[in-house]
Amino acid sequence: MNASSIQAIILAAGKSTRFNTGRSKLLERLCGQEMILYTTKLFESLSLPTTVVLGYEAENIKKVITNHHTQIMFAEQPEQKGTGHALACSQHTWMSDHILVINADMPLITKKIINELIEKHLTKNADVSFVTSHTENPSQFGYGRVIQQNGTLKIVETRNYQGTEIDDCCINAGIYMFKKTFLNNYLPQLGSQNAQNEFYLTDLIEKASAHQLTIETVAASFDHIRGVNTLKELWSAEQIKRAELISHWMDNGVRFFAAQAVHVDENVTIGQGSTISYGTHVINGTKIGINCHIEPFSIISNSTIGNNVTIYSHSVITDSTIEAHTKIGPFAHIRTHSTIKQSATVGNFVELKATTLGANSKAKHLAYLGDTTAGERVNIGAGTITSNHNGFSKQPTTIEDNAYIGSNNTLVAPLTIGKNSYTAAGSVITKQVPPEALAIARAYQVNKEGYARKLREKFAKEQQTKTNELKESEAVSFVAALKTHNDSTLSGNT
Ligand code: UD1
Ligand code: CA
Repeated sequence: MNASSIQAIILAAGKSTRFNTGRSKLLERLCGQEMILYTTKLFESLSLPTTVVLGYEAENIKKVITNHHTQIMFAEQPEQKGTGHALACSQHTWMSDHILVINADMPLITKKIINELIEKHLTKNADVSFVTSHTENPSQFGYGRVIQQNGTLKIVETRNYQGTEIDDCCINAGIYMFKKTFLNNYLPQLGSQNAQNEFYLTDLIEKASAHQLTIETVAASFDHIRGVNTLKELWSAEQIKRAELISHWMDNGVRFFAAQAVHVDENVTIGQGSTISYGTHVINGTKIGINCHIEPFSIISNSTIGNNVTIYSHSVITDSTIEAHTKIGPFAHIRTHSTIKQSATVGNFVELKATTLGANSKAKHLAYLGDTTAGERVNIGAGTITSNHNGFSKQPTTIEDNAYIGSNNTLVAPLTIGKNSYTAAGSVITKQVPPEALAIARAYQVNKEGYARKLREKFAKEQQTKTNELKESEAVSFVAALKTHNDSTLSGNT
């Protein structure tokens, strides 16, 4: 194919009325990627110059596109007067002999279908070509019917369709290819005498047929051409996309337990021999190495997981790097560019924020480390936290190699804890700890021999006094209540 003779136009100006969220459906993510990018990326991969027609939420859609593409052209449809009108609004950007038009709301479309359409259109020297499909109840989803009427081929929109579903189950997919000369002649002739008073792009088929021009069709499976008009259709399309992604990783040796309950985004990678369990989300560009085990209900977003890592259940890892042979969780929270180095352990109810935990180090229970750099073979005792925020700014903590932080420490940053040092359990460490030192920062314990018995006697006596007082006051109030009752009974006020 001669790609330079073809240009793609993506119709993306529509109002998303049926989507009913008050937002453009094209900004909605499907397996982690905005819907609009499925078509723009496809055409980029085919090296087709592309124009996107924008209208509703134009600026937001444009921003998403320009974050990913540098070459795309834009056209504006200031008022949404239908798909034919949208195409006409792009006319000033047409540079090629053939114009390939696609609806922006078909994220499941494949390269194969587009290539088939292009090839057929060019080899048959067609004036118009388009993709068709079949579905059981097209009216429910609003697809246009492809029908023959009195020798003319036409597309009849659901709103104007009179026949029965069984007679006409061939539908218009929403992908077309036209000779530019055909469009120049016939696009200005489109009328808007229909149920919506819109200029329907689909009416071009009837025009081509009526003028005995060459029309070609390519059939595609319904699952690849599904349009997304409603939230329900988005749900269906995302399930199909997700199933495709999971099948792909299964083919690459990834075991999914209860695959139906796993969410995988389209831009993640998972290494051979890894297992992904029930309710887990692997999203947002995450890379998982080989032989990793991700246990149920973990969420891993925009993170890199090395080889042979175990992430126990209910762990949340965001924007972070987890190196090989580490063990994380259950219930760990690792975020904001944290790094867990080789063979380290992060246990249950441990939160790490903007923190590096060195190789072979351990923070096994109930800890918070923020803005901390911990060296190798460091131990963080249960219940330890860094006090890294002074009410105005974040302060760093450095814990050098082999330091042993006792349980329930508060490390008040900024702070450095030297190599090979110890801190005593329950300490509030506010000053630097030199290497090899033991830091104790807590009240000393005093044992008073035999004092426990004295205390018990004292408490028992106090308790007895209280009980006696209570009884006395109850007796007094009973007598008072009885008196009130008798007085009122005598005066007849019962
Ligand atoms: C369209 C087709 C229908 C086909 C179906 C396939 C028409 C008239 N009908 O119907 O035959 O079976 O797609 O999914 O084309 N758009 C604009 N400007 C507008 C209106 C729409 O840019 O004024 C864009 C939308 O953003 C969308 C695309 O065109 O991406 C299709 O519009 P939509 O309203 O979804 O058309 P359907 O009713 O699905
Ligand atoms: Ca649609």
